[in-house]
Amino acid sequence: MGEFSHIPVLLNECVDNLEIKTDGIYVDGTVGGGGHSGAILRKLGEGGLLIGIDRDAEAIEAAGIELNSVLRETKSKARFELVHDNYVNMVEICRERGIGGVDGILLDIGVSSHQFDSAERGFSYRFDAPLDMRMDRGDRLTAADVVNKYSERELSDIIFRYGEERWAKRIAEFIVQRRKKAPIETTFQLVDVIKGAIPKGARSDGGHPAKRTFQAIRIEVNGELDVLSNVIMGAVEMLKPSGVMEIITFHSLEEGIVKKLFKKAENPCECPPEFPVCVCGKKPLGRMITKHAIVASPEELEANPRAASAKLRIFKRF
Ligand SMILES: C[S@@+](CC[C@H](N)C(=O)[O-])C[C@H]1O[C@@H](n2cnc3c(N)ncnc32)[C@H](O)[C@@H]1O
Repeated sequence: MGEFSHIPVLLNECVDNLEIKTDGIYVDGTVGGGGHSGAILRKLGEGGLLIGIDRDAEAIEAAGIELNSVLRETKSKARFELVHDNYVNMVEICRERGIGGVDGILLDIGVSSHQFDSAERGFSYRFDAPLDMRMDRGDRLTAADVVNKYSERELSDIIFRYGEERWAKRIAEFIVQRRKKAPIETTFQLVDVIKGAIPKGARSDGGHPAKRTFQAIRIEVNGELDVLSNVIMGAVEMLKPSGVMEIITFHSLEEGIVKKLFKKAENPCECPPEFPVCVCGKKPLGRMITKHAIVASPEELEANPRAASAKLRIFKRF
């Protein structure tokens, strides 16, 4: 593993809003290089515990180095534990450790700069590499499987939905034509197909022509929207009174899921609207304290342009 470089986004906003208790228990479900986790650990003392989860083994290794150095520097008696797993399992991960309730949860979803910049991982259209894009290299589905085995219709839907790519249909058509000759095996082969599919005159807008298709395939390979949808309610229920859940998203579909499920946690009642009183017994769990998502300040954007699409939403338990 090369040096792990990733600048944590909305760092102060995340740490301030977690209202960290020195002896509290915090879960970082996307520990990455440990940027956010390190800042949380700095605020913990004796009795404090941070559980950092990541599905990428390289991230777990990097986070271990970072968090140990924080503990050495601060001489803190706080503890941390790192778990190589999917954040969708966070309630179970806590339960296995005898933890029934936590004070705060953070998710900073998507890909780290380290993953993007590791050429051989195949996340980036900037480097030529095998089509991989798995965050967890133990998973079975790769980008090559998606590109070479999905039907034209499936590819078109994924590229349109997850990539918001208006040329999705044509790109899917070109992929299927090209793979009839030979499988598409590398990132640059896929880039060439995408460039061929998008008319030259339409290419000037929206950055690199392959950006949206690569994003879509990555979201599909890692099932990113499903795990986000499946984690939120259970995680909110695991919060102690006044506990806080924070989620940073980089994509409008993810943001929509967070907003919808935080609203559901505000009002989980499932009774038909015509019922005069609630009979399902599901009571509000707390409140989404960000009416509008928090976005990066101009200063942060200048220092880290990657923060441009970051949106932070926060839910606080009653
Ligand atoms: C944007 S980075 C997080 C960076 C981190 N906050 C930091 O400050 O270094 C996202 C990380 O989440 C991980 N990740 C994405 N989806 C995940 C999931 N479902 N379960 C566990 N980790 C996930 C990725 O492997 C990546 O390391």
